[in-house]
Amino acid sequence: MCRSVATTTQTVKSLTAVRQCKFAIFIMRFLILIMAHRFLSFDNQKLFLAHLPFSVILVITAHYSNKGTTVTKPTLLAALDVDQWLAGLARIPAMEFSQENVQRYIHQHAIVADSLKPYTFFSARQYTRNLIFKNEVFECLTLCWNIGQSSSVHNHNDRLGWVYLSSGRLFVQNYVVESQDSVWRTCCVIPTDSTELHAGQAADVDREAGVHKVCNLPRFQERAISVHVYQRPMNQCEVYSLETGTYQTIDLCYTSEYGRLKPGVRLA
Ligand SMILES: [Fe+2]
Repeated sequence: MCRSVATTTQTVKSLTAVRQCKFAIFIMRFLILIMAHRFLSFDNQKLFLAHLPFSVILVITAHYSNKGTTVTKPTLLAALDVDQWLAGLARIPAMEFSQENVQRYIHQHAIVADSLKPYTFFSARQYTRNLIFKNEVFECLTLCWNIGQSSSVHNHNDRLGWVYLSSGRLFVQNYVVESQDSVWRTCCVIPTDSTELHAGQAADVDREAGVHKVCNLPRFQERAISVHVYQRPMNQCEVYSLETGTYQTIDLCYTSEYGRLKPGVRLA
């Protein structure tokens, strides 16, 4: 699933609200404990007091336990040229190249839009994929979207993925694969939620449910440039057809590599 990540200021506000809400729940739990004490008989009160330290520990543990929620501190630290941005990303050790760590890095470091110019190619035919950097841990591309261009419904081939929108707007429709037959290549894919990305925003793609379609809708009326990071270089992915209920594996190719158009590529 592709999840929208709000802008830095929006996210800070929402995280502050979440912290305030959690603190209120924390206080309420203690109040409930104390009120329960008032309704107990004397013997039960002694029993209650004997167990109180354990109850307090349980409340604190429950409050601070991570219930699967990714908590990041999305404070924007710097806006970097893409080369510096990638150098910082490459300093994350392979074993620590996790959804949370990369998301935090992308939140904290914006990309100076001008530094993406060498990796910006628009085509009248379809959106373009432009390789900026690749090693064994991850690859990074710009995708350049003319008005009205969109991707197919696709997955990320069991890889984590992150997107940072440098300019323009993009609409992301998520899907869930309800069933898939690898012999007949048939599938049942249904749309779920959707989100809209604005310049400066980022999103991450879950490994398990990362089926989505990205569109630069005609109503946006402007080109878009997005920066994509894929955990491990991705040479193939699966593309789903909702019309025929089938899917196929396709090879992915680059429009340009390291700022140079691939031989034979025509943009017009
Ligand atoms: Fe994607």
